[in-house]
Amino acid sequence: MNILLTGGAGYIGSHAALSLIDNGHSVTVIDNLITGNKKLIPPQAKYYECDIADREQVEKILKQNKFDIVMHFAGLTRVDESVKYPEKYQIHNFEKSKTFFKNCFQNNVKKIIFSSTAGVYGDSNSEYVKETDDLKPINPYAESKCKIEKFLIENSKNEKIQYIILRYFNVAGADANKRSGLISKSSTNLIKAVCEAAIKKRNKIIINGNDYKTKDGTAIRDFIHVSDIADIHTTAANTLFKNSVSDIYNCGYGQGYSVKQVITEMENIINDKLKVEIGPRREKDISVSIANSDKFKKKFNWKPKFNNLNYILKTALEWEKIN
Ligand SMILES: NC(=O)c1ccc[n+]([C@@H]2O[C@H](COP(=O)([O-])OP(=O)(O)OC[C@H]3O[C@@H](n4cnc5c(N)ncnc54)[C@H](O)[C@@H]3O)[C@@H](O)[C@H]2O)c1
Repeated sequence: MNILLTGGAGYIGSHAALSLIDNGHSVTVIDNLITGNKKLIPPQAKYYECDIADREQVEKILKQNKFDIVMHFAGLTRVDESVKYPEKYQIHNFEKSKTFFKNCFQNNVKKIIFSSTAGVYGDSNSEYVKETDDLKPINPYAESKCKIEKFLIENSKNEKIQYIILRYFNVAGADANKRSGLISKSSTNLIKAVCEAAIKKRNKIIINGNDYKTKDGTAIRDFIHVSDIADIHTTAANTLFKNSVSDIYNCGYGQGYSVKQVITEMENIINDKLKVEIGPRREKDISVSIANSDKFKKKFNWKPKFNNLNYILKTALEWEKIN
């Protein structure tokens, strides 16, 4: 397949690019490097430094290359920033994605895989959220993702496009061969913070709230290894290439770990104690987020390879050591 990735210089997009290339596909990346890093783009990929909403340049790229599928990763990803600057997320995520997709449709690229988030469910009452659960986003980041989902679903009728919407839970870890990992300097990612503390790049970890209604009071998340997320994209693309299969899928392991459990697991790996401080809850953060991930597994006969917190932390730590 010949695949266009927006945001391929970012954390997840670069791992998807690696998975596609490892499986023999052609990859083109467009990225404006707003949060991404050129060194994460696999050398075998074709790269254009370009904003997704640059109509002219994107049209040129679409016309020059006959893409079978577009994977749309590009966007801003920080919940805290979106609460502070909601308009920025409306424009940068929703409006720009709309411009980009319209450009794709007009240039006959009609198979789309889109990076959505578990955040679309909000603070769900069910223990394991299902794709059919109500969407109740509680922050502008998740709202922007809901709007893009809706746009794709509505346009799948009149534009005859096919989509696969993937709602990721908490993506973590790094490529086992150390070809990519999380680089962002302003990341609010717990596992990155824990890795930085483990190698003394930061002196303490702040736990954002220990008064949630969970067993140990800290928030619970479903962490999925980034290479499994990448493999999910390759698997989804293989099917989308051959069939009309528009649908929405959760991407998680269906297993939750608390912030404290993650910290303890890292302490076991490094055989040392980490300095921890309790801070306030993050605004508009949710307490528990665990996927019911049966739908993707059944539909695509897919099995995760790295469903192991220890492995997730070790790969993230090895990457952190060299960055
Ligand atoms: N990391 C997670 O746990 C997680 C969870 C759920 C959903 N997601 C979604 O997955 C996608 C990728 O996330 P990530 O963690 O890899 O983030 P990231 O910041 O590492 O990657 C995003 C990439 O998109 C690029 N980009 C942003 N706006 C652009 C634009 N207008 N034009 C061109 N390039 C642009 C950035 O430079 C960056 O390389 C995002 O859409 C995010 O919302 C991530």
